[in-house]
Amino acid sequence: MASIDYESKIPNNVDLASDKRLQRALEKWQPEYLQWGHEMGPTDFEDKEIYLRTAISVDSKGWAHFGHVKMPDYRWGIFLEPHEAGRVVPFGDHAGEAAWQEVPGEYRTELRRLIVTQADTEPASVEQQRLLAHTAPSLYDMRNLFQVNVEEGRHLWAMVYLLHRYFGKDGRNEADELLDRRSGNPDRPRILGTFNEPLHTWLDFFCFTMFTDRDGKFQLLALAESGFDPLARTCRFMLTEEAHHMFVGQTGMGRIIERTCQVMKEHPDADPREYGSIPFDMLQRYINFWVSSSTDLYGSEVSSNAANYYAAGLKGRAYEEKKYEDHQALEGSYEIEKIEGDKLVKEEVPLRNAMNELLRTDYLEDNQKGVDYWNRVVSKQGLDYRFSLPHRRFNRSIGMYTGLYFDVDGTPVTQEYFEQRASDWLPTEEDRAYVQSLMVPCHEPGKWAGWIAPPPKGINSQAHDFDYVRL
Ligand SMILES: [Fe+2]
Ligand SMILES: [Fe+2]
Repeated sequence: MASIDYESKIPNNVDLASDKRLQRALEKWQPEYLQWGHEMGPTDFEDKEIYLRTAISVDSKGWAHFGHVKMPDYRWGIFLEPHEAGRVVPFGDHAGEAAWQEVPGEYRTELRRLIVTQADTEPASVEQQRLLAHTAPSLYDMRNLFQVNVEEGRHLWAMVYLLHRYFGKDGRNEADELLDRRSGNPDRPRILGTFNEPLHTWLDFFCFTMFTDRDGKFQLLALAESGFDPLARTCRFMLTEEAHHMFVGQTGMGRIIERTCQVMKEHPDADPREYGSIPFDMLQRYINFWVSSSTDLYGSEVSSNAANYYAAGLKGRAYEEKKYEDHQALEGSYEIEKIEGDKLVKEEVPLRNAMNELLRTDYLEDNQKGVDYWNRVVSKQGLDYRFSLPHRRFNRSIGMYTGLYFDVDGTPVTQEYFEQRASDWLPTEEDRAYVQSLMVPCHEPGKWAGWIAPPPKGINSQAHDFDYVRL
């Protein structure tokens, strides 16, 4: 296994010390990154010690170190999974050729675009989340927020390393621009729509980490198959960290649901809002909003770009090597339902052109597992409400369903009907105001805000009243 240089300014397992030019370039970018963090990160907590996990190796048996650290002192490192000798391009027109260790000239532009698009989401989410700590429902949750933030920062480092190391001056310019765009800024927004949506409340944060970070998981799974070996290796390690972000979202929502169940059992005839918890139908509307927004991140259903990325061996299917036998995808097709007049008709699309849709399908199936978990929380409490995912056609802004209207089950409806029912399906102003009203900080060790249940156990087996954040 590659050795870890943890003492240098930029901890890494890529032997940065042997490439002085690259090292200098990254050391020049580092203060700009820290300045970005100072302006756009959770600024007001910079002098607080937080119980964070830091990646120190890629060893699956023990890759992280836990300890109290101030966020500006966090050590953002560059860690790639070890090189696999003899690895080949796993799919596409170059399948079976040696995997690329340098950027293949003919695909330079496409590869850079893929890396920049992924990279842009990492700082964007930190910007979206920057004010949430002030209203954290507990120190445990505040710590989890900061953990997600520092790891998104490390993911940015992972991508910036690729840009600096493999793309010369263009790559360095892209790395600078990654610190220049701003989530929600009308003049220089982040690249993808969802990453410009503001996160005002912890309910949005839990939905985001559940549904939007999960988009990240599937994008990383597709890039982890890449024939460009350094990209594959870095994405594999990022996936290890990503799992915690989705844990935060899934269990956060689960704890909100658990608390609502308790209130409903204690006060069966009351509106849960009277007792400061969030009603199920309101949670469902937030689910509908964040799922539909995140579903857009996969792009158009039929996409020649996606086909080209696949043909070139740059971006595969999730679990390409494990799950499929045919890595050409030249035969066969994928069935897509499109709208003709006011009817849905089935259309067969050549497989390579349907790669976005395939990834979206995998993503939605994975979401379903989280929803099943929430439904188990409800049934364990002896209640019988069921949460569900909205249909993939619902409330879309990208792809063939844009500008058309569907109900949450995917049935075509008129615009008029949609607008009449929108307040049943998507968060209303009133919902948002109510959830906002609950966002009162609870910053005492071992205490939790009234709208959320405590977690079953602490981080790294720590006690509930552990000082996760030293305020
Ligand atoms: Fe990330
Ligand atoms: Fe993430």
